[in-house]
Amino acid sequence: MNKTDVLLGLQWGDEGKGKIVDVLTPDYDIIARFQGGPNAGHTLEFNGIKHVLHTIPSGIFHPTAINVVGNGVVIDPVIFKKELDALTNLKVDYKSKLVISKRAHLILPTHRLLDAASEAAKGKNKIGSTLKGIGPTYMDKTGRNGLRVGDIETKEFKAKYDALVEKHKQLLSYHNYEYNLQELEPAWFEAIETLKQLQFIDTEHYLNEALSKNKRVLAEGAQGSLLDIDFGSYPFVTSSNTICAGACNGLGIAPNRIGNVIGIFKAYCTRVGSGPFPTELDNEVGESIRQAGREFGSTTGRARRTGWLDIPALKYAIMINGVTELMMMKADVLSDFKELQICTHYMHNGKTIDYLPYNIDPAYLQPIYTSIKGWNCDLTGITEKSKLPVELMDYIKFIEKETATPVSIVSVGPDRTQTIKMS
Ligand code: GDP
Ligand code: IMO
Ligand code: MG
Repeated sequence: MNKTDVLLGLQWGDEGKGKIVDVLTPDYDIIARFQGGPNAGHTLEFNGIKHVLHTIPSGIFHPTAINVVGNGVVIDPVIFKKELDALTNLKVDYKSKLVISKRAHLILPTHRLLDAASEAAKGKNKIGSTLKGIGPTYMDKTGRNGLRVGDIETKEFKAKYDALVEKHKQLLSYHNYEYNLQELEPAWFEAIETLKQLQFIDTEHYLNEALSKNKRVLAEGAQGSLLDIDFGSYPFVTSSNTICAGACNGLGIAPNRIGNVIGIFKAYCTRVGSGPFPTELDNEVGESIRQAGREFGSTTGRARRTGWLDIPALKYAIMINGVTELMMMKADVLSDFKELQICTHYMHNGKTIDYLPYNIDPAYLQPIYTSIKGWNCDLTGITEKSKLPVELMDYIKFIEKETATPVSIVSVGPDRTQTIKMS
């Protein structure tokens, strides 16, 4: 029986997961998303095409891999339909290689409205949500009110939808939130019809059977470990378990069926939305990283906050996930620097510490940096490890030593081909 490999982000999302899943898909039979929903934006670039996926797994552009939307994912049919339409335009035949868990929950138009109402009510304490209805949908899931993909095929579907919407209307009136649901519902029900053209299956049976037949499965995470509902910078997090354990819950795969855990991180850090960010560079250095890395959200277009690499945070994510190998993204973005900073410790309540504590608010925690020589040259055309500048190799060795985890891939540009294998 095979084990499932898991690929996930170790920072605050947007590490480059989509690119790497696309690069690795030829080595797998099945790619399975296990949590999150259209708050995610996973970018793939190849043959001059740039494509952003939100709910559909990033293996969809390969000819044979089956793409599974697992039970842990929340689906907005309207956004899903848009994704399918974009694939049709690119002549991708998705029908035979995309399946959806019956247990996945549906995002209703009123979930999106509730997200907006809740954020508006929070005022300056807002999470900076993508406003895709993620929080309210997961709240209905754990509150045992949710509507699931499997419900679509039952004759009670509309009645269940109406009952949930009634509940949402009460909440919206409590928020004094103005809206026009009639404008939103036709597109939602139209998209439900499109969704019906796909196979709704018991993905937990499908995946376990595939593993027993020695099929190779890669679980694709969304968001990042520091946005995890339990282990992230709460309350500035998303509403799902983004960590490795989320792959077990979100796919129905037992912990002893997890194989390699691939941790994706950027050579620096970014964060979009509110919340503490110990190594943030709220200055011209940060702005130069933002411009060089084109750090603007794939889902919302918002400017991403930028900062230096944070080793204690990386070690924390490696520990929580059981990461077996690292992949470092966007090394090319730091090419203009003669000198780089890496955070190795924090000052916390007057003490130097080397781990991520409970409270990472700037009032309690300040980063301590080590300087390291930059490579200061263009990396984007390099295709072999042996051609990498010595300063970049030193940067990688430093990270490997600090984290006691090997770096197996270094990415030097957004395209599939700009990917360097380190072993
Ligand atoms: P994901 O959410 O983890 O899949 O990441 P996103 O797609 O939201 O954000 C990563 C961004 O960086 C995308 O625009 C990618 O095309 C781009 N990207 C990925 N790897 C690299 C790289 O090595 N260098 C550069 N310059 N861009 C990259
Ligand atoms: P991918 O998969 C980066 C952030 C939002 C906000 C917080 C909560 O592309 O890496 P939510 O919409 O979930 O209620 O937002 O989480 N966030 C992400 N940031 N990448 C993502 O996904 C994100 N998904 C959510 O900006 O701060
Ligand atoms: Mg993204």
